[in-house]
Amino acid sequence: MSAPLIDPDEPRFRLGLDEMDGTHLEFIDLVNRLAAADDAGFPALFEALVAHTEAHFEREDQWMTASGFPALHEHRGEHRRVLAELRNLGQRAANGRPVLARAYIREQLPSWFALHAATMDSALAAHLKAKPTG
Ligand SMILES: [Fe+2]
Ligand SMILES: [Fe+2]
Repeated sequence: MSAPLIDPDEPRFRLGLDEMDGTHLEFIDLVNRLAAADDAGFPALFEALVAHTEAHFEREDQWMTASGFPALHEHRGEHRRVLAELRNLGQRAANGRPVLARAYIREQLPSWFALHAATMDSALAAHLKAKPTG
């Protein structure tokens, strides 16, 4: 078996909040499965990624609102931007045009996630640890 697209064991993906870290590991697993998916399985798996990401971002948006996170608008805006891209690509894949979605999974999503986790999610995790909201 070839190496996964994103290494789930990388310490930089552990931000110290169990629920956030667990969601991020599920996200990594879905992206890795998409990278290995055949054409028959790809569109449904991409839809699963869209649904998972909707819940992932929604939960973080709730945490930001509830805790008065200072960078709420910037972080939420980034979630909306990426979700719009994913929905658009998922629609194309569902219509038999998976090429752009496959390229996005391989070439853009891993680096986007690594940067997002290291910056916006890391800042949110630090904020929540300093100011728990339950
Ligand atoms: Fe996240
Ligand atoms: Fe985030």
